[in-house]
Amino acid sequence: MSDNNRIVLAYSGGLDTSVAIAYLKDRTGKDVVAVSLDVGQGGESLETIRQRALACGAVESYVVDARDEFANEYCMKALKANAMYEGVYPLVSAISRPLISKHLVRAAHQFGADTISHGCTGKGNDQVRFEVSIASIDPTLKAISPIRDLSLTRDVEIAFAKEHQLPITQTEKSPYSIDQNVWGRAIETGFLEDPWNGPTKDCYAYTDDPAFPPVEDEVVIEFKEGIPVKIDGRDVTPLQAIEEMNRRAGAQGIGRIDLIEDRLVGIKSRELYECPGAVALITAHQELENCCLEREQHRIKRDIDKRWGELVYDAQWFSPAVASLNAFIEDTQKYVSGEIRMTLHGGRAVVTGRRSDTSLYDYRLATYDSGDTFDQKSSNGFIDIYGLPSRVAAARDVRFGNGIEVPNNVVE
Ligand code: ARG
Repeated sequence: MSDNNRIVLAYSGGLDTSVAIAYLKDRTGKDVVAVSLDVGQGGESLETIRQRALACGAVESYVVDARDEFANEYCMKALKANAMYEGVYPLVSAISRPLISKHLVRAAHQFGADTISHGCTGKGNDQVRFEVSIASIDPTLKAISPIRDLSLTRDVEIAFAKEHQLPITQTEKSPYSIDQNVWGRAIETGFLEDPWNGPTKDCYAYTDDPAFPPVEDEVVIEFKEGIPVKIDGRDVTPLQAIEEMNRRAGAQGIGRIDLIEDRLVGIKSRELYECPGAVALITAHQELENCCLEREQHRIKRDIDKRWGELVYDAQWFSPAVASLNAFIEDTQKYVSGEIRMTLHGGRAVVTGRRSDTSLYDYRLATYDSGDTFDQKSSNGFIDIYGLPSRVAAARDVRFGNGIEVPNNVVE
C-alpha cells in the first residue's frame, strides 16, 4: 500500500496525540499511522499504547523498543561529547528527537505516507528538531502539526474526543509538560513559568530529595574508549550503565537542574531537569579525559564539546557540521579507558580516584618526593623564553609611563 495518502504520527499515547489521530484524519482526509518508541521513558507498555492508537482510529500502529539503540548511538555520543547545553543541560529531549525522526521516516516509507506529524507546539525546539531531522533523512516528506498548524487546543481536544466518542480515559492533565527518556527528564510550564517559583516535590520522578540522602554510595565505573563497560566490576551495556546510575545517583538526588534556557526559537524559558545517570556518567567521563587526553587536544575538545551541544540542541543532529565534530570526538576517545571511583551523596557525584593504563599522568614527573625525574632547572630557560614577549612589552610601557602600578604602602 503506497498511495502516499497517509500521515505518520509520532504517538506518545497521551491525550494530545490520541486526539490528533482522529483530528488529523478529519481535517486532512488522510489515514494516520501511529508510531511509538520506547526510549526508556517508563510508564505504559508499548502494547497498551499500540492498542490505544488503533482504538483512536489509526490504520496502523507501529511500536519500537528503541532503548538500546538510543543508549548506544545517541546517549553515548552525548557522553563522549560531555554534552551540557549552557553548561548544565544534558540534552535529554534534543538527542531523542533525531532517533524518533529516523523511525518516523522508516514508517513513512514502509506504510506509504507522504507526511509526518508530531504533537509539538509552535513555540518549542522539538518541532524544529523533528522537522529538520526528517528533512535531513528524506527531504521529500512533508510535516504537519495538529497543534501548531490545525489549531488543536485542549478545549478543542476534549470537545472533539466527546463528539467522536474517542476511547480516551486519561483526561487528567499533568500541571507540567514532561518529556522523559533514559537520559533524563524535562519538566516545564504550569506554575514553573513564574521563574521565582521554586520547584515542588511533585516536579520530580527520577530523583529523591538531596537534602535527605541515604548513606553515601561509592561506585567504580570502568570505561573503554569513552563508553562505560563495567560498574563495580560487573559488565554493563550502555543502557544498563545509564539505568543503574539513574537508580543510584537518583537515590542521592544527583542531577537536578533548574535554569532559564535560551531556546532556538528565541524564547527564554524556565526549565527543570533531572538527569541523575547522565550527570554522574558525564562527571566520571570528564575526569577520565582529564587523565587521558593530551593537553592541546583536550583544550580543543572542550570547545568542540560546547559547539556539539549547541548544534545538537539547535536541531543539527544529522548535519554535516555535527558529523565532522563526531569524527573529531571519536578520535579523541581511543585512549579514554580506565576506572573512575566516585562517591554519590547528597546531590553530588564526587570523583575520589582514577586509574588507567592509558593515562598521561606520570607520577615520576608529578611527584615532589624522591624519584622525581622532572629537571626543575630546565624551568629557568622555559620561563626566560616564555616570558620574553611580556618582558619586552613591559619595558615599552615603562618607557611611556604606562607601567602597571604597584602599591607603594610603606610598611612601618
Ligand atoms: N527545553 C528542552 C529542550 O528543548 C526540553 C523540551 C522538553 N519537551 C517537552 N515537550 N516538554 O530540549
